[in-house]
Amino acid sequence: MTEALVLRRVRAIDPAGGLDAEVDVVVEGARVTRVGRDAGKDLRASERVRVVERPGAWLLPGLVDLHAHLREPGGEGKEDVASGLRAAAAGGFVDVCCMPNTRPVNDSRVVTEMLVAKARAAGTVRLHPIGAITVGQKGEQLAEMADMKAAGAVAVSDDGRCVTSSHVMRRALEYASTFDLPVIQHAEDHALTEGAQMHEGAISTRLGLRGWPRVAEDVIVARDILLAEYVGARYHVAHVSTAGAARLIREGKERGVPVTAEVTPHHLLLTHEALLGYDPVCKVNPPLREASDVEALRKALADGTIDCVATDHAPHGVLDKNVELAEAAPGMIGLELCLPLLLGLAAQGAFPLASLVEALTGGPARVAGLPVPRIKDGARADLVLVDPTARWTIDPARLLSKSRNTPFAGRAVTGRVELTVCEGRIVHEATT
Ligand code: DOR
Ligand code: ZN
Repeated sequence: MTEALVLRRVRAIDPAGGLDAEVDVVVEGARVTRVGRDAGKDLRASERVRVVERPGAWLLPGLVDLHAHLREPGGEGKEDVASGLRAAAAGGFVDVCCMPNTRPVNDSRVVTEMLVAKARAAGTVRLHPIGAITVGQKGEQLAEMADMKAAGAVAVSDDGRCVTSSHVMRRALEYASTFDLPVIQHAEDHALTEGAQMHEGAISTRLGLRGWPRVAEDVIVARDILLAEYVGARYHVAHVSTAGAARLIREGKERGVPVTAEVTPHHLLLTHEALLGYDPVCKVNPPLREASDVEALRKALADGTIDCVATDHAPHGVLDKNVELAEAAPGMIGLELCLPLLLGLAAQGAFPLASLVEALTGGPARVAGLPVPRIKDGARADLVLVDPTARWTIDPARLLSKSRNTPFAGRAVTGRVELTVCEGRIVHEATT
């Protein structure tokens, strides 16, 4: 067994500590024990010491995903805890928060406990369940948040459905705040999106498809920010997709409201034009918007209005996706593609690299109340080694997720996760 891991001459990037320098990083047991120029010089490769020397490689703190659908219980054909966590490790993630829209819904202590036990048995990266806000995600009666928190839940959400009742949302914010759990809203006024297949705009009109207007998101975000301000409770917006929602969050933060937000890789990369071929793989909720929204979301990520990038990893099988658009389930996989896709955007100057790393580490960790992965002496050894120059083509058949539903198949990307280390253990290593 290796007892020490030496990462030689890596460019270590840890925005939380203002670190961006070429250093050696030494891991002993579950901890980082040395960071510094030539800090691992005296350690030679042996049976007990693994030395990794990849000139030009970057070392980032392990990534945190605040929003993944691992489909267990009830949808194990699409993904399960073990496969989802393997995919997460391959994507550089060490912490994964899983949404409760499973069958049965995770609105209870038993389901939360079961997920925690499965993740422990899988022994890869850490899983943090998110409990439902309401029983069965029906939007009516509050779920037993105290029980779920005691079993390991880090937040509550009815993701996939919006809590539309202002009264229920008010009570949810009040109740959750007593346990210091953030309330994560899927912001969609369902009365405005009935039968919607895509973003409401010129393309939905041209294709003759029912549209999901931006205002259906904005109206909920505006209301919830007012409720969070009134109650004084932590409120988090899942998968922000509109320029308007970003503006409302910015204004809320300026007023001191405890509001945070996340954006997905696909909303930073794609527009509604992707639907021109009626391809169900591009159907997602909220829908892909317009170039002006994409630009506003990139800016909001750069200026800190949006705190996190979250994958919204939503695996679906052919039975859900190889059907007419109207019948298709919304969602795309994201865990293994998030970092390479977004490194490309950062390289193009869409936002600074440090903003991206912060949005994949400290941002989501703080929302979920988890320790922020760091690269410093004494920190828990949660690390991801990236080759920023490796060029590869996305081939869904080679991904570790059980599902293949990604619109990025065939896309050339630059940047590859070489090694993921969780608590000092190598949980993923790229094969060439
Ligand atoms: O596209 C989506 N897929 N959006 C959601 O809110 C739910 C998710 C899923 O569970 O498939
Ligand atoms: Zn959602």
